[in-house]
Amino acid sequence: MSSRGARTSEVGRPATAVNLADPDVWVVAPPYEEFARLRDEAPVAWNERLDGQRGFWAVARHDDIVTVSRDTTTFSSREGVISLDDFDDDQSDARRTLLEMDPPQHTSMRKVTSRDFTPRAVSAFEAFARCTAGRLIDEVVATGEVDIVPALSKQLPILTLCRLLGVPDERRADMIRWSDHLIGSDDPSFLDPLVQAIPLEERRLMPFGHPSSLEAFELGRSLRTARAADPVEDVVTSLALGTADGGPLDDMEFCNYFLMLVVAGNETTRHTLTHGMLALSRNPGEWSRYRNDALDSHVAADEVVRWATPVYFVRRVATADTELGGAAIRAGDKVAMYYVSGNRDETHFDEPDTFRIDRAPNNHISFGRGGPHFCLGAHLARLQVRVFLEELATRIQRIEQLAPPERLRSNHINGIKSLPLRFHPIRGN
Ligand code: HEM
Repeated sequence: MSSRGARTSEVGRPATAVNLADPDVWVVAPPYEEFARLRDEAPVAWNERLDGQRGFWAVARHDDIVTVSRDTTTFSSREGVISLDDFDDDQSDARRTLLEMDPPQHTSMRKVTSRDFTPRAVSAFEAFARCTAGRLIDEVVATGEVDIVPALSKQLPILTLCRLLGVPDERRADMIRWSDHLIGSDDPSFLDPLVQAIPLEERRLMPFGHPSSLEAFELGRSLRTARAADPVEDVVTSLALGTADGGPLDDMEFCNYFLMLVVAGNETTRHTLTHGMLALSRNPGEWSRYRNDALDSHVAADEVVRWATPVYFVRRVATADTELGGAAIRAGDKVAMYYVSGNRDETHFDEPDTFRIDRAPNNHISFGRGGPHFCLGAHLARLQVRVFLEELATRIQRIEQLAPPERLRSNHINGIKSLPLRFHPIRGN
């Protein structure tokens, strides 16, 4: 399939010049030049699909993305948000989480766990995240040359998540495997012949179209039973005892909620940490400035999250004909908000293509922006990135990149599968 397309579609719509649905377009790097052109010439552009699926609108400007995020009446989340593909009602219902709900159903479902994710609640994990980050950094130093993804980036988010959800540490490897499979389904290195052998019709109704979701459900169910009998202060207890729309969560609601937290809290933070280390190795002056001038770690963490933009887009479906950025959107059209473009919007960021560790203000949209779906785990993600930077600063003088990163083949996740690095410790440590 060719990734090139026309600049104006057959019916005269402004159009993307590359096919953003094609995972190969993203393999080497996100198409930043094309997004710069779109922001300038066609801020809401039609992307034709060449594989039989319906096309979609690509929203490139920061302001338009915020408009779509806020307006849940015109732009619905109910028909799927993390994919550019069409979903029928059966598929959408089988996979539905709060991500794929609109208010008021969404409001009620989000409340079940929202108290577990406030800044105050997540501060309970700071000491654990700090101690884990420090230990992992020390292990990397001791090893010398390492692939930082398995050695560090995968570990910190999953260990934090296991704590948050009350998952025993011995299930950590399963959690990583499930998450890899569910998000990496377009990447040949995660394709499993046993899975391909399952009839498509059966896979179609599984969350993420993959049987690993069913394994995660089993773990979730066993934790639910344990917490219902013996409640503790954790997210699974909130899910087991909480109510939405006046009643307890049914089995499907519970399982999908649990799985979404496993995936949402895992991949995103992992790739953010890896992109952060890559940026620090390529911008040694920024790292020196950060350490020598004792710059603010909250500010630095936000620049790492902007720079990484681990989720390229989240999509909505228009519920009515509307106009956005000069484009005539029809009811039923898919609309993808490209955070990866909004985070480089020159009307919001000075020198957006530069990694600036003290960037302030930093109005990034990596967690979404302005709407009720704003990332529930944003405080927890920020906390992990911040304590990681703080622990790194007390130990590491320079990060050396030893080989190019191996990137995930995905049109949705800005993933790095492998990144060989060496940490050079501060002399005297
Ligand atoms: C750097 C790390 C992260 C990034 C960039 C990120 C990004 C996002 C984005 C873009 C959304 C969707 C916003 C929308 O639809 O408007 C989202 C939603 C969500 N995220 Fe995160 N996320 C991160 C970490 C986490 C963590 C650590 C957790 C939890 C453990 C988490 C849990 C969630 C949940 C539950 C939602 C659904 C919220 C809703 O629909 O109301 N995320 N995240």
